[in-house]
Amino acid sequence: LNAIRVSNAVMKITSNDENFAGLCPADDFPSLRNSTYLNSAGIGLIPAPVLERSSRFLSALGTYGTRSYFDHIDDIRQAPRIAAARLFGCDVQSIGLITSVAEGMSQFAWFVCPEAGQNVVVVDIDHPSAVYPWLRVAQDTGAEVRYVRVADDPLSLGVDKVAALVDRKTAVISVSHVMWTSGYRFDLEALGGLARSVGAYLAVDATQSAGVTPLDVRQMDVDFIAATGFKWLLSLAGAGICYLRPELAERMTPIMVGNNSTGAVIDRKPSGYDTSRYEFPHGAARLEYGSSAHLARYTLGGSLTYLEAVGITNIERHVIGLGDQLIAGLVQLGAEVLTPRAPEARAAIVTARFPGRDGTRLTAQLEAENVVVLPRLGGVRFSPHLFNSSADIEKALAALAKILSEAP
Ligand SMILES: Cc1ncc(COP(=O)(O)O)c(C=O)c1O
Repeated sequence: LNAIRVSNAVMKITSNDENFAGLCPADDFPSLRNSTYLNSAGIGLIPAPVLERSSRFLSALGTYGTRSYFDHIDDIRQAPRIAAARLFGCDVQSIGLITSVAEGMSQFAWFVCPEAGQNVVVVDIDHPSAVYPWLRVAQDTGAEVRYVRVADDPLSLGVDKVAALVDRKTAVISVSHVMWTSGYRFDLEALGGLARSVGAYLAVDATQSAGVTPLDVRQMDVDFIAATGFKWLLSLAGAGICYLRPELAERMTPIMVGNNSTGAVIDRKPSGYDTSRYEFPHGAARLEYGSSAHLARYTLGGSLTYLEAVGITNIERHVIGLGDQLIAGLVQLGAEVLTPRAPEARAAIVTARFPGRDGTRLTAQLEAENVVVLPRLGGVRFSPHLFNSSADIEKALAALAKILSEAP
């Protein structure tokens, strides 16, 4: 850890700004002074100190090439890995750096490679990155992909619905921890137990939970977790993190190979390759076949450090409180809330439909009021993070009340 310069280079988060009820200094997110940004489920904002550090790095890399690259190699290759290991409560070797969830999940899907006669259980309102990789493998092997169907009633999603489709032929359950649509949060301990009871794997897309919800793999029976960096992890597209259960990592022959498939990848200097053979690095780093977005990885290291300094349990408490406030206000406005009320069944996303109103139009009307959200499930998805405050929720609810008081 001492080798990682990221923490002392980035920031100290010691006190809250007096006029700001988010969990961090207001100066870290300057755009919030003139807009109400409730869209971290779409794209997270990068904290100003992290952004400044990344801008300096980009400038140095573009100006000095390899001289700068080798100066920063630990910050690119190791810092995000070490910070992710702390986030997931696992050892560093169990962390892989991926470019997207689609890539990580696809690699895992080809490793599991369910055969004809086996099945994979997925959710119909889930994100393509948690579903398509299995469809693709099934296209070749003839495995069955079974859908938990809740699109007509998103609030009915639960472990019981998954359990109803799981049997001895289930090779894997693949779900998002938190649904990008309804905000429903799965109980991963319960899902892990279910998967284990039939000898299936559990693969989790944690894109909508990592950064706002504690994700300690020691407390859940999960085989693979992937999360993309540009949402709640407050970084850039092009870098994400994954956890691969250690026993599986050593058995995995990755489908993708390249200049990183050469053994001790992390410390390797490209002084020469033996192109007659490849050799996989130990642990989840074997998923890292080729070069990847340096800037995105560098930024991810900074953002993960920032999040850790604020504290994931603090963030969870904060966003659940904002969600309580939002849900209460939405109900008062006559909305149909599609996110569970129970705090343990949600993270930071709250989605609601408004009778007689179209979600896309409402989103545009909110945008005109300087409130940034996205349309989902025919309604509107709100997704506050650590930098939002109770005042932001009040502003969003007041804007909605104004819009709803006018003709559609
Ligand atoms: C649940 C979920 N998974 C994954 C992604 C992104 O996937 P990828 O990293 O594969 O582009 C998103 C958002 O774009 C998402 O909401």
